[in-house]
Amino acid sequence: MPTVRIAPSILSSDFSCLRKEITEIEDAGADWIHFDVMDGNYVPNLTVGPCVCSAIRPHTSLPIDVHLMVRRADDLVSMFAQSGANIITVHVEVVDHLDRLLSFIREQGCLVGVALNPTTPCSVLDYVLDKIDLVLLMLVNPGFSGQKMISSVIPKISEVKSILDLYYDRTKRRINLEVDGGVTVDNIYELSCHGADVFVIGSAFFGQNCSYAEIINKIRKSVP
Ligand code: DX5
Ligand code: ZN
Repeated sequence: MPTVRIAPSILSSDFSCLRKEITEIEDAGADWIHFDVMDGNYVPNLTVGPCVCSAIRPHTSLPIDVHLMVRRADDLVSMFAQSGANIITVHVEVVDHLDRLLSFIREQGCLVGVALNPTTPCSVLDYVLDKIDLVLLMLVNPGFSGQKMISSVIPKISEVKSILDLYYDRTKRRINLEVDGGVTVDNIYELSCHGADVFVIGSAFFGQNCSYAEIINKIRKSVP
């Protein structure tokens, strides 16, 4: 069984004390820091860029998992790689030359991810599997934290999982399956049963009544 990874999305954290948040996320036992980049164009919202990634880099040893929700991803990849990103994920819906960009991310020394929106068919994965380490399945429309998961997308997790398992049987190379949007402590078990192994969690992680460690412990109990 692949290892479960928990990736709090700092989009929902308190940006006025980001360094403290990063330290607390790591101390609580999270696996990755999920870093949402929005350009106010591909998606309506505007968030953070490479300089914020550089600013947090010295304060954590966790992988920084950059999710680019932008129209001009080509321009940003090398900047994020130089800013200490470990994983860079791009949206297949908005990249002009996907094969070239995925190779470029790899050349920059980062792990490579592709993100699929809720209505994007899984067949886009057919020609990229050899170039990626991660599939990020959006369970909401990208742009904001705090949205409710679109439940009709859940079967798609199993569909992608089958594709990745067949690929593993053939190559013995494991590609992670990350889910993002509307993930909560209560639905993680169901999502993991469908095959997800990386869980982005934003609004259900930050600003809750319990500590980050308590939330992570609850998740680890439901998906060990
Ligand atoms: C949405 C972002 C998500 C979001 C997750 O476009 O990609 O990573 O911050 O937040 P929640 O868990 O609140 O849906
Ligand atoms: Zn995200």
